Amino acid sequence: MNIKDKILEKLIKNKGKPISGERLANELSISRTAIWKHIRALREEGYVIDSSTNLGYSLMTLPDMLTPGGIKAGLKTSVIGKEIEYFKEIESTNVIACEIAGSVAEGTVVIAESQTGGRGRLGRKWISPEGGVWLSIILKPKIQPSYAPRITILAGVSVAKAIRSFGPEAMIKWPNDVLINGKKVCGILTEIEAEIDMIDHCVVGIGIDANVDTESFPEEFRDSSTSLKKELGHEINRVGFVQKLLEEFEVLYLKFQEGDFTAILEDWRSMSATIGEWVKITTQTRTIYGEAIGVDNEGALILETDEGKLEKIVAGNCEHLRRT
Ligand code: BTN
Repeated sequence: MNIKDKILEKLIKNKGKPISGERLANELSISRTAIWKHIRALREEGYVIDSSTNLGYSLMTLPDMLTPGGIKAGLKTSVIGKEIEYFKEIESTNVIACEIAGSVAEGTVVIAESQTGGRGRLGRKWISPEGGVWLSIILKPKIQPSYAPRITILAGVSVAKAIRSFGPEAMIKWPNDVLINGKKVCGILTEIEAEIDMIDHCVVGIGIDANVDTESFPEEFRDSSTSLKKELGHEINRVGFVQKLLEEFEVLYLKFQEGDFTAILEDWRSMSATIGEWVKITTQTRTIYGEAIGVDNEGALILETDEGKLEKIVAGNCEHLRRT
């Protein structure tokens, strides 16, 4: 974390009470002039920081920004989000995360206020304006590539749980779209770098339409997408939301690493919007219709086709169909 973020973290933790320039300078082993320059930079970014000659600096108001100092202040995790790379605008957090994965610690998060080339599943584009939550988590689990879908499942569960803690009853559409009232509010794109029998690293990209105006969505998505702001009727505190998400993610990731995937699947099943639905699945090679009757222990969807045949779908696009 850079010095500016460390100063911000200290100011936030002090909850509006002043900290002297001298104390900041001592604790961060830099000069008071350097502290003052960072304070000026923070003010330029929109942080309202009072200064008094005798008492020092106090943070009065936080702008709605996902800066590392803001997120880390009060973040209750031990691995996920310990390091955060922040960008105001970037092509794609997944692209950067894949690039830096080899040289950073597990749990490092790449986060951006907006993306110019956000990537979606199946080669689609992901529209990522300001106000959303666009982040990628770098993981280095010691697992075979065939277990990677489990990470996507646990990511979906953690997003749904984080959203539920803010009110809306989020559901999960197989494999990992998160829906509110049947409309998509979050997409997850997991990318892995692996040898044949071992994952080198894994990047879990999570995109949430948080404080995004749904009217700004292209027409083709307007009926099928929503945002937290629209569902709640007000903006959410994105910093608080990201903290909750990273905390939920860490709890599930630690369970997964201990080999306890059953509990995660139980959560997934209990929040599933797909089980019991008639669905159309499109894979790279075929299209299958049927009733979704469950997910197996790897997270594959089990379909019962019209002919009464059971099909196991490991990957593909899933559309919920209306029953006739
Ligand atoms: C989907 O198609 O449903 C998956 C969308 C994933 C979007 C997120 S936003 C953060 C991360 N960076 C990207 O470029 N994509 C993922």
